[in-house]
Amino acid sequence: MAHCMGPVLLLLLLLLLGSASFAGGNRCVDAAEACTANALCQRLRTEYVEQCLGRVVNGGCPRSRCHRALRRFFSRGPQALTHALLFCPCASPACGERRRQTFVPACAFSGLGQEPPSCLARMDACERSRVCRPRLLTFQASCASVPITQDSCLRDQGPSCLRAYAGLVGTAITPNYVDNASARVAPWCDCRASGNRREECEAFQGLFTRNRCLDGAIQSFDSQWPSILQDQLGSHHDPGQRLLQVPSADRPLEGSSLQSILPVLVLQALL
Ligand SMILES: *[C@@H]1O[C@H](CO)[C@@H](O)[C@H](O)[C@H]1NC(C)=O
Repeated sequence: MAHCMGPVLLLLLLLLLGSASFAGGNRCVDAAEACTANALCQRLRTEYVEQCLGRVVNGGCPRSRCHRALRRFFSRGPQALTHALLFCPCASPACGERRRQTFVPACAFSGLGQEPPSCLARMDACERSRVCRPRLLTFQASCASVPITQDSCLRDQGPSCLRAYAGLVGTAITPNYVDNASARVAPWCDCRASGNRREECEAFQGLFTRNRCLDGAIQSFDSQWPSILQDQLGSHHDPGQRLLQVPSADRPLEGSSLQSILPVLVLQALL
């Protein structure tokens, strides 16, 4: 076993350096570390990453399995942690890029290098889906904006708007951040070929791109940030200890087989 320790220690060192250099300024990295430190969050996240990176025979990804695993992540994971990953506030493109990539957009969101489909097609697919339809209705109701109030949401609905938005991740209209320089979100679709349904198409798109309640709720997540992660990170200040929890929450590094740990560590580096 001794001759195998070299690469493993090197990998551990690289991971330590990597997290140390980012920890100060990148809240999406902080959110990822908080999730790693929580056995349930970590297990559900590993599940969706594995599913979403899987390949099917025709070269695509197993999107429906990826979507199901994402829905499980948000329905069963601790909300403080799952929302911290989804809404981590960013001030740099590096953070914004990480936030945009967190939920494996190549499989869950956009497909592999294709042109965006029509939003009408996405909307119709959602209407036909018994998973998607109620979630879209909830999102519409929970993120309804009213121009005159302070936070732009109806009756302090900011938090339920964020929950409803998270509920759309893993459906036919999975939204994501559209770039790494803003907190703008949208599903992967456009209204170019919508013909005489253009208004309907733009109204649907506007639920994401021109929604002051949703924008305000995402922004105000920023102000709650310290309390969200304080408890989660408080007991895991020693980075060495945190890494020992990576392979599995209830098993120390010694005594585990290296073959089972290495892929997990590599997966960690990707997350
Ligand atoms: C941000 O996005 C732009 C455009 O997609 C890309 O060229 C750039 O590399 C990204 N920045 C980072 C830090 O990933």
